Amino acid sequence: MSNFKDTVLVSGGAGYIGTHTAVALMEAGYRVVIIDNFSNSEPSAIEGVKQIVGHDVIFEQVDTCRTDELRRVFERYDFSTVIHFAAYKAVGESMDEPLKYYMNNLLSYMNILELMKEFKRPNVLFSSSATVYGDADVLPVTENTPRKPATSPYGNTKQMAEDILRDCCAAYEGMYGIALRYFNPIGAHPSALIGELPRGVPNNLLPYVTQTAAGIRECISIFGNDYDTEDGTCLRDYIDVVDLAAAHVAAVDRMTEKKMKTKYEIFNVGTGRPVSVLELVTRFEKANNLKLNYRFAPRREGDVPAVWADTALANKELGWVAARDLDDTLRSAWAWEKHLRGIK
Ligand code: UFG
Repeated sequence: MSNFKDTVLVSGGAGYIGTHTAVALMEAGYRVVIIDNFSNSEPSAIEGVKQIVGHDVIFEQVDTCRTDELRRVFERYDFSTVIHFAAYKAVGESMDEPLKYYMNNLLSYMNILELMKEFKRPNVLFSSSATVYGDADVLPVTENTPRKPATSPYGNTKQMAEDILRDCCAAYEGMYGIALRYFNPIGAHPSALIGELPRGVPNNLLPYVTQTAAGIRECISIFGNDYDTEDGTCLRDYIDVVDLAAAHVAAVDRMTEKKMKTKYEIFNVGTGRPVSVLELVTRFEKANNLKLNYRFAPRREGDVPAVWADTALANKELGWVAARDLDDTLRSAWAWEKHLRGIK
């Protein structure tokens, strides 16, 4: 008898959400097998995970698009559940290079599903996104809010992957799936040993903010202040990455304890609280007691004015709530940036 609850394969486990989830799973008593090809992450992320959990971790450098490499992982480890994070995620880049996104995000996913089926491994947890809702007619969005046609190949891969999982769970007796629709993940582990590691100029708001605070960027551009919102800037639902990781543990528990109500389920993972871009920037300043340069710039193409989650279903069914305070989250993001840059 092992001391572990179960074994979980985490693809893309060296990434931002992957590292935090791997830590949370190990702390909850799971054995975790991390795979990653470091296409958008660094070996140092695995070192950070080891430091936090205080022991070695199981890691294999594997490209999930390579069936032969992935097959060896299935042969070697007896996991019941896969969490599939490994994917490209830059919306703008996906518009310029759609095939790169369709090939990588869908091929890797179908490889995993095919092997799950072949090796009779039951549980698939997929990283979906609030992007599937597009510019929703009614807010907050529930899991039943109709999806809008995707406005980027990236968004399309998320929609397609959800549908592929739904169809596989319907067709294959032994397969169960959960799609978690993430809102806007921000922040870092309280230890400041893991966090977001964007390459080049960040696309997302908070890494841009922390890099500006660190003096790497000169000025934050707030994209659009003429939206139909209170202060004219976009509204988003910013979820602490540690809370997001806890939602994955709750979803894995639900699968491994066979508590799912249907073979394929979807949950929103957000806080349920809309925060404007301007408010996020000014709260970051206050929480960290510093000043930032920012200016209003034209709207960014493809941005929806507002999206936030109705979290009632996740709260009830997963027994999970977003617990961390936004100011603490913003402090954790800055602590991580300082750790990265060696700022005291
Ligand atoms: N923003 C700025 N300046 C910046 C960066 C962002 O004003 O330098 C604004 C955006 O216009 C938007 C908000 O900050 O209003 C959040 O932007 P992000 O790029 O951080 O996040 P998005 O909401 O655009 O996208 C995120 C994920 C996507 C996912 C989407 C789903 O990055 O992967 O949420 O809603 F698809």
